[in-house]
Amino acid sequence: MNPSWQQKKLIEYCKTKGIIINAYSPLGAKGASWGTNEVMESPFLKHIAESHSKSVAQVCLRWLYEEGVSFVVKSYNKERMKQNLEIFDWCLREEDYEMISQVKQHRTNNGPTTSLGDIWDGES
Ligand SMILES: NC(=O)c1ccc[n+]([C@@H]2O[C@H](COP(=O)([O-])OP(=O)(O)OC[C@H]3O[C@@H](n4cnc5c(N)ncnc54)[C@H](OP(=O)(O)O)[C@@H]3O)[C@@H](O)[C@H]2O)c1
Repeated sequence: MNPSWQQKKLIEYCKTKGIIINAYSPLGAKGASWGTNEVMESPFLKHIAESHSKSVAQVCLRWLYEEGVSFVVKSYNKERMKQNLEIFDWCLREEDYEMISQVKQHRTNNGPTTSLGDIWDGES
């Protein structure tokens, strides 16, 4: 789960059932074979990030946090690891949510799953 694969119906369903969601590839796994550039290069997310003096990564992680989703973000870079933790002393605005809802959706699951419509979410 990330801003370019929001899976809103699935999230809503999980919330009604008390299922905790954990987001893999929360930044879209840019550069990976299973990833997408749609997150880190999104003009909407860049705009939000600039308006808060934050990075696109921080906007993504803050959004997940506010959605009540836990996440597994990966970085080999010490500064970026630190940056990815600095999401708790600020918050997104209503207009940010409107912009995030406009991020182009791209299904990032290219794994070997072969049933249930390859983890069908009813949206993509
Ligand atoms: N079990 C599963 O089915 C499954 C599926 C997908 C992913 N995962 C796991 O989930 C974890 C994260 O997923 P992922 O690696 O696919 O994708 P990700 O966390 O969305 O993206 C990782 C990429 O983002 C970069 N990055 C991290 N923080 C950044 C920042 N603040 N600013 C700019 N770039 C940043 C990293 O580069 P740098 O290292 O250069 O910072 C790396 O290239 C991994 O441990 C992965 O194994 C598991």
